[in-house]
Amino acid sequence: MIDTLRLSHVVVRVRDLDKAYKFYVELLGLVETEKDGDCLYLRGVEEGQHHSLVLKKADSPGLSYIGLRVKKPEELDKAREFLSSNIKLKIHKEKGVDEGILFETPQGIPLFLYYDMEYVGDLRMKFFMHRGVSPVRLAHVNLIVRDLESEVKFFKEVLGYYETEWFLDDKGEKQVVWLTRRGDSHEIAISSSTINSPGFHHETYYVHELRDVVRAADILASAGLWNSIERGPGRHGVTEGFYIYLRDIDKNRIEFFSEDYVVLDPDKWKPIVWTHDQLRYRSDFWGRPIPESWLNEWVPVEDVFTGQLKRWNA
Ligand SMILES: [Fe+2]
Repeated sequence: MIDTLRLSHVVVRVRDLDKAYKFYVELLGLVETEKDGDCLYLRGVEEGQHHSLVLKKADSPGLSYIGLRVKKPEELDKAREFLSSNIKLKIHKEKGVDEGILFETPQGIPLFLYYDMEYVGDLRMKFFMHRGVSPVRLAHVNLIVRDLESEVKFFKEVLGYYETEWFLDDKGEKQVVWLTRRGDSHEIAISSSTINSPGFHHETYYVHELRDVVRAADILASAGLWNSIERGPGRHGVTEGFYIYLRDIDKNRIEFFSEDYVVLDPDKWKPIVWTHDQLRYRSDFWGRPIPESWLNEWVPVEDVFTGQLKRWNA
């Protein structure tokens, strides 16, 4: 097993960096570390690392890759050795990170493992610099794959994650699995789909309280961006968290989320099981319907070796 520390960052494709800056930085309050060439490097107020969200200019939306940090430098060596004997990988550098390895999970999700990212300092108690909804830290990502079982096995057996909750389909098979490494309700959620290519549903930033979740809707509505408010505010049954889902101008989805639980004793934890007839309040504890767009729309992911998006067929 590779000793990973946590989910670290996501690299998301946007078509217009200026418009993305207005949405993510000026309105929602992600902290700008820097703009460099075709990339905008952002983070939450609690994050001292160089970035947790990279917006990369591209001709269409999608996920470029997801970054995980390993606990020690030797874990990266171990990962390179272990993974290279099983799957194709490449050495990759990014702004603030000298070296890491980029590869695809068994189901084709692009992942980047690294140890050391430049540390620029957090804005945790610099309250005068907080803006928008004061995004605190990257909390989780939500992925779509064809074969859920093989993907979950990889995150558990190779990357050290464990399951916190399951949602079962009408045949009693796992349809969605929530996994964590650092002990929050989840850092990775994975859903199964009949689509033959992997997809990226959303990334989520933790905010400190429900008021910040509501503020996201107030900010976008008062800026005339009603179409960007896709779902919520509401409360999930699964994970307990308050949520709101937003779409940027390219239809990439971002969630703000608050007040989920922490797993105090991983060795005692038994995954919470939601059966299919509990769908309504599993997804929204107050039983409100889920928008069709939320259920059926997500963005494609890049092939790490070509940089091209993988296209799917049902
Ligand atoms: Fe989420």
